Amino acid sequence: MASRAQHRGKDSGSPFDLKVYLEERTADVNEALDRFLPSATHKPATLHRAMRYSLFAGGKRMRPALCMAAAEACGGGGEACLPAACAVECVHTYSLIHDDLPAMDNDDFRRGKLTNHKVFGEGIAVLAGDALLTQAFEILTTCPVSKRYGAQTLVLELARASGSLQLIAGQVADLEAEGKALSTKELRYIHERKTSALLCCSVRLGGMSANCTPVQLEALSRFGFNVGLAFQVIDDILDVTQTSELLGKTAGKDVAAQKATYPAIVGLEKSRKIARQLTEKAYAALAVFDGRATALEALARYLLERDR
Ligand code: IPE
Ligand code: IPE
Ligand code: MG
Ligand code: MG
Ligand code: MG
Repeated sequence: MASRAQHRGKDSGSPFDLKVYLEERTADVNEALDRFLPSATHKPATLHRAMRYSLFAGGKRMRPALCMAAAEACGGGGEACLPAACAVECVHTYSLIHDDLPAMDNDDFRRGKLTNHKVFGEGIAVLAGDALLTQAFEILTTCPVSKRYGAQTLVLELARASGSLQLIAGQVADLEAEGKALSTKELRYIHERKTSALLCCSVRLGGMSANCTPVQLEALSRFGFNVGLAFQVIDDILDVTQTSELLGKTAGKDVAAQKATYPAIVGLEKSRKIARQLTEKAYAALAVFDGRATALEALARYLLERDR
């Protein structure tokens, strides 16, 4: 399959259009995810339907887009970065299915639809999450290895970001913080892990798929880390300021569940300022790409200004 990502690019001379860019990358990722996942009729069909239900419910596909944009900034992209882009979306979707369970955030809506456990029951939702996490690593093994980054490096990258020291550590701390008054330092510990780790991993894997230089990888890490932190600050702000309809998930849940968030600790205005400052740091990291990181820059701006 020829990926759309190969047909357009920075050398086309036309001004960069993020909307078109996202539509094209999302279409490529959706097509690839459909190929990578067992069909909905494959036994056990309930499980495969549940996996596909959440995966194709209409997420923004920001982690795949960041992964592909990072690959392109390093001179790669196209087919080579699709396995990594799909793998991070599978990990992300698994984390959302589990995050929504009654034992965690107890949410009824996600991506504009009923949550996985509401449709399939808690048992299948747990298993669909487990299966998506495992599927992510299977997909990642199909990533063509580059000169600098072998299969072991790619697997380690995703395992660390998703594991008990990063994403899961953040989720644990998030649960344990309910009802407590945290310091901003403690809240940042949570955000670095539950959200920033996987966003950072997404851009790093994109860079690795393009055989990026160590200098480029370092720049992508700083970019991804700061964009990831800004992402969760904005998520916390939107929970306060947006409607459930627009978010596709129940707004106002953080206050109701006494979650530790930036708006709760420092207020909305200061939270917005923090998100802007983090995004500035992310932009600064892109200097080494010498104008080749147009998509990454546009994505960072979009993530700061987004309304859902
Ligand atoms: C929501 O992520 C969970 C967080 C880490 C804040 P997204 O806002 O990217 O959710 P989708 O993928 O668009 O549904
Ligand atoms: C979710 O954070 C982070 C992960 C799933 C790892 P939130 O609990 O704030 O995300 P939403 O608001 O439910 O999307
Ligand atoms: Mg949560
Ligand atoms: Mg939640
Ligand atoms: Mg939230």
